[in-house]
Amino acid sequence: MSNIVIIGAQWGDEGKGKVIDVYSRKVDMIARYQGGNNAGHTVVIGKDRFILHLIPSGILHKGKMCVIGNGVVVDPKALLEEIKMLQSRGIDVDGRLFVSEEAHIILPYHWKLDGIKEEKKGRIGTTKKGIGPCYADKVARNGIRAVDLLNRDVLRQKLQSNLDEKNAIFSKIYGVEGFGFDALYKEYLGYGERIKKYICNTTVLLNGAIKKRKKILFEGAQGTLLDVDHGTYPFVTSSNSTAGGASTGTGVGPNKIDKVIGVVKAYTTRVGEGPFPTEFGPDLMERIRQKGKEFGATTGRPRRCGWFDSVVVGHAVMVNGIDEIVITKLDVLDDLETIKICISYKYNGGVHKHFPADMQAQAGAEPVYEELPGWKADTTGITTYSKLPKNAKNYLKRIQYILNTKIVLISVGSDRKQTFPKY
Ligand code: IMP
Repeated sequence: MSNIVIIGAQWGDEGKGKVIDVYSRKVDMIARYQGGNNAGHTVVIGKDRFILHLIPSGILHKGKMCVIGNGVVVDPKALLEEIKMLQSRGIDVDGRLFVSEEAHIILPYHWKLDGIKEEKKGRIGTTKKGIGPCYADKVARNGIRAVDLLNRDVLRQKLQSNLDEKNAIFSKIYGVEGFGFDALYKEYLGYGERIKKYICNTTVLLNGAIKKRKKILFEGAQGTLLDVDHGTYPFVTSSNSTAGGASTGTGVGPNKIDKVIGVVKAYTTRVGEGPFPTEFGPDLMERIRQKGKEFGATTGRPRRCGWFDSVVVGHAVMVNGIDEIVITKLDVLDDLETIKICISYKYNGGVHKHFPADMQAQAGAEPVYEELPGWKADTTGITTYSKLPKNAKNYLKRIQYILNTKIVLISVGSDRKQTFPKY
């Protein structure tokens, strides 16, 4: 095994940060390929807790090289803050962090548009970090890329034409003030100066490393059901968070990727609006939310919680080509008498194993459950699979059987040490 992709198999927040941290030890480079600082990857090392939004969590491992690929949208201010935070905690990124010259830049008008759209149009429940509007500019071919921050003339011309358009939208459609050119131009030229040393051709860097047989971990952000193509559209993020994005978002051919690992929470959570068939009622919601500390790492919003949904994860296994699964947060279910697994949905008068594309069918999908006995025992101190309570093993075996995909690793707490292989 050399090059692996690690993706979230639900609606994000599956615990990818920790899993990526565990697998980072086995690779030479870690590359983010989509999303931006809407992500929040948490890694706990002893008493230290790190939350990374943009820089791959592999940066916490000495000597590992980290790439922010062309598919990522970069807020330079957030990037510089994250670099400063890492440096203040003794982690130096210089010579180890590389930002694609083709990555698109998030500007203040993207934040503002994101915020206004959330308030004035139908709510998606975005992180308001400007992700959607930045990707919209990329696809509309108006975007400003990292390389443009390094060229005064190109930046002037692109920023001016973007401001002409955006300011007209702000004043004529939304009746709010726009942005002046001079201050913004100066500010972003300044960011260019400061991040210049990280900006390079990461496609050449990654492919060169592969030629030298270096091992690469492609780090997905968000989750499969938030993918703009394969998720619960329109309640999704604006990028391809599925495994295919690793290729387009870094410029590494799909034939160079050897394995896809799906990170799956032992139950389900979702932040923001959109359908969630297995969502708990209020009592269980609060109990699991508190026990699982289910509050967004980026926005602090309480996460919605629900039963394990094998229609969702089965969809993720299919669209990502998941080879192996890592189960996280099994311990959060420790106190439950009984545990439910959703095995199919009822919608449009039938029983289905696939997620419907139609928004109304998604909203009305009724889960069909099977019920298993809980294990009612503390699993947080367990370090080998054989020591897990019998009912916990049965729960995992059942999930593995339904998904027809191997579970390889289990996590029972936030610390690096609370992880063990299935066999
Ligand atoms: P955006 O990515 O900020 O545009 O938000 C679009 C949707 O994706 C919203 O429902 C967000 O809550 C969700 N989202 C974005 N990033 C994450 C993440 O890292 N974890 C979980 N949900 C996310």
